[in-house]
Amino acid sequence: MKLWGGRFTKETDELVHQFNASLSFDQRLYPYDILGSIVHVEMLVKQGILKAEEGEQIIKGLEEIKEELDSGLLKFDLKYEDIHSFVEAHLIEKIGPVGGKMHTGRSRNDQVALDIRLYLRDEIRNIQELLLLFMQDLLLLAEKYKGVYMPGYTHLQRAQAVTLAHHLLAYYFKLKRDYERLTDNLKRVNVLPLGAGALAGTSYPLDREYVAERLGFAAVSENSLDAVSDRDFILEFHSIAATIITHLSSFSEEIILWSSSEFAFIELDDAYSTGSSIMPQKKNPDIAELVRGKTGRIYGNMIQLFTTLKGLPLAYNKDMQEDKEGLFDTIDTLKIILQIYPEMLKTMKVKKENMYQACQKGFLNATDLADYLSKKGLPFRRAHEIVGQAVLYCLENKLELEELDYKKYRELFPEEKELFAADLNESLALEYTVENKKVIGGTAIAESVRIIEKERNWLEDRLVFFAG
Ligand code: ARG
Repeated sequence: MKLWGGRFTKETDELVHQFNASLSFDQRLYPYDILGSIVHVEMLVKQGILKAEEGEQIIKGLEEIKEELDSGLLKFDLKYEDIHSFVEAHLIEKIGPVGGKMHTGRSRNDQVALDIRLYLRDEIRNIQELLLLFMQDLLLLAEKYKGVYMPGYTHLQRAQAVTLAHHLLAYYFKLKRDYERLTDNLKRVNVLPLGAGALAGTSYPLDREYVAERLGFAAVSENSLDAVSDRDFILEFHSIAATIITHLSSFSEEIILWSSSEFAFIELDDAYSTGSSIMPQKKNPDIAELVRGKTGRIYGNMIQLFTTLKGLPLAYNKDMQEDKEGLFDTIDTLKIILQIYPEMLKTMKVKKENMYQACQKGFLNATDLADYLSKKGLPFRRAHEIVGQAVLYCLENKLELEELDYKKYRELFPEEKELFAADLNESLALEYTVENKKVIGGTAIAESVRIIEKERNWLEDRLVFFAG
């Protein structure tokens, strides 16, 4: 059954039907489609547009359809064009011609905009909750590894020592911003488009504010042409999803490097790795690789929608049906990743000794030595030069900076000799260099502990909201 057969004399070609239809994928919107219709009909009754008993019949019919779909009693038959036609056809089948009154004062154009907003609003909240749980795990791991030293890198060259806690907290803050971006996105998602009709609003005296309130929308759209053509709240979501996966892709790159024999910083748990069909010794970080790989499809979904919308005249165009599959795919992909990822991190074995060893080579304390000298009044530029020469000396003699004692430094740099004192070697020790960076956001363990405590409170306030 079609919603628009009247002016046609011929059946749609079968392949054209398949090409045109969206039920195969928009079926997942059914709970939102039915909810939207129920509230729409309640409002039509309240406004005297439908009779109370008509409204009751329609709502009862819709509730039954919802139950039958939930239980699997009613299946999606792909002969219907989309979720809206499917529900309306079944309603009319169930309760007779009065079912045809449901669509009064409404178009599929504002209906589909409503459905996608209701759906995305729920999924944003689901993703936000998964992000919070992930962040909570990152804080637990940071607490657990607060005394584990590891090299920090720039250009993937050993740069200065940090702690694993500090490294994990970096990802915590990236995800926290993503969470906040989603909160902001929600403001634009949470606007009621219903009442825009096909494009021009409607002559029925609809109470849009009532519908908005019943559906939990914070606002009502204020231009009908915009309401049926606006998909930028989805573009915005895609770009946040792309940012989240960018963060996790970088993290994955590190997990992959760290689990190689070259780094040997971690070992992933068997449950989060796979083997090779030919090389019996292999244990591969497939999960992290796949997360890195899925980044391509999430970017792809974003670019697809931008490209689809580019150049569309106002208002609704069928091109916009293409807003759904990419969105569903991005949401499904993100949700599974956000569930697996923290478990992969929680079960991995950290090889502390190897991380510690890696800090001993590569002059990670060179900056600390320069700071030591400049704190004694030497201009930093000169201090930098001296340390550069000391590094060169060490390279030639296969030594580390902390292996030369202060007397040796005096010998090497006679002009600055009064700057080198007995406390020198202590200030070059790994633990000291990390601990000495007490600035806000620095590597000192006490600073990590302070951040963990503060962020735990931030998380708790939000998790309460999701639990409630
Ligand atoms: N299946 C359509 C979509 O997803 C619903 C809106 C159809 N509107 C129309 N005028 N053909 O966009």
